[in-house]
Amino acid sequence: MTSAHLTFDIYGDKVADRVRMMRSSAVRDLFAAATRPDIISLSGGMPDVSLLPSSAIRKATRSVYDSQQAVALQYGSTDGRVETKRVFCDLMRDLGIRVKPDEVLITSGAQEALDLLGKTFINEGDIIITEGPTYLGALQAFSAYQPDIRCIPFDEEGMRIDLLEEELASIGKNNPRLKFCYTIPNFQNPGGVTMVPARRKRLLELSEDYGFMVVEDDPYGRLRYEGGHVLPMKALSDQVVYLGTVSKTLAPGLRCGWVAAPHGVIGKLNLAKQGTDLCGSMFDQVVVEHYFTDTPWQRTLQRFVKTYRQRRDAMLAALEEHFPAEASWTHPQGGFFVWVTLPAYVDTSSMLGAALEHGVTYTPGDGFFPDGVRGRNCMRIAFCYETPENITEAIRRLAEVIEERLELYRAFIQAGAIKA
Ligand SMILES: Cc1ncc(COP(=O)(O)O)c(C=O)c1O
Repeated sequence: MTSAHLTFDIYGDKVADRVRMMRSSAVRDLFAAATRPDIISLSGGMPDVSLLPSSAIRKATRSVYDSQQAVALQYGSTDGRVETKRVFCDLMRDLGIRVKPDEVLITSGAQEALDLLGKTFINEGDIIITEGPTYLGALQAFSAYQPDIRCIPFDEEGMRIDLLEEELASIGKNNPRLKFCYTIPNFQNPGGVTMVPARRKRLLELSEDYGFMVVEDDPYGRLRYEGGHVLPMKALSDQVVYLGTVSKTLAPGLRCGWVAAPHGVIGKLNLAKQGTDLCGSMFDQVVVEHYFTDTPWQRTLQRFVKTYRQRRDAMLAALEEHFPAEASWTHPQGGFFVWVTLPAYVDTSSMLGAALEHGVTYTPGDGFFPDGVRGRNCMRIAFCYETPENITEAIRRLAEVIEERLELYRAFIQAGAIKA
């Protein structure tokens, strides 16, 4: 009998409390099933790796076989290869961050770093602060350790630091339960917004005042389509825990990311990682080293930026043209995502079925909040994956679905069934 035939979970009562608490989303299952070729997907945050020059990838991979096969196929140290760390130190230096290789731990993507941070720092009931909405994968990673997650809304200038200050005042200074503030300051996922320099500076001051760590997650920082570079917080304070990844600038299939943090933090994360996977993939690390040292990766990155900029522009133009006046949305200067807010009575989870019938998917907003309640009238739409033509068509279809909802609501009001 295959597992598909099993309908009864005989070990269900043995599952740990932390897993029992993990929320499964029917909606996510629904769009996982949305593989029809006529469906245009605005739901995934996947980079378009078809933009990578296959010659560069082949060259980097062949170099591994030609000269470093034994290293690439063997176990390595838990913290990662020093050569790979040097590459990441160089990448960070371009952004204004100066760290040494011994302040870096290589991880299996930034996602592993999030889990290691949870494993290392969160006791049940500890307070952590995030933007609200925030990256779904971070919520999944942290939730396993049962924290009390406090969400701070954002506006077009990033996390609302005034609201953070109010939250901190209620938590109190040097509260041992308060562990860290997790933020995605550049082109936030799912918001698309960027934290302005003054807010970054204030966040660092507050972290000193109140005694919490700042975790700066920066997968999209190099994908900027307009405006000037904003210094990462890690460039302003060496106490910041900075997360990097090659997933959006090279390929997520190479599971390679890193943490740059003070020595004490790196040491603890290293201990936690030993129990997770002994070491990250040596093969992936060596390929990454070759890619960033022997190929014209900056040129490739420019191509990524040009392509994503066109897609973003297509999405913003289509939203302007087709979306109703009742909707509002963010205007990202980079990254992959636009965050749309609809009238409070629209539930984007229940609307997804209709959107699928119209041949378009998006990610409903409630999944980006720990309570799964807030964000119900919001959605994340991604412009990274589809062509500009498809994006325009997808937004047109989505506007139709939304308009149907709005008409229904107006009809209810006219009939006196509900109040405006
Ligand atoms: C904000 C954020 N952090 C971390 C990750 C995980 O990235 P990685 O592929 O490096 O694990 C993602 C992936 O989409 C992300 O959007």
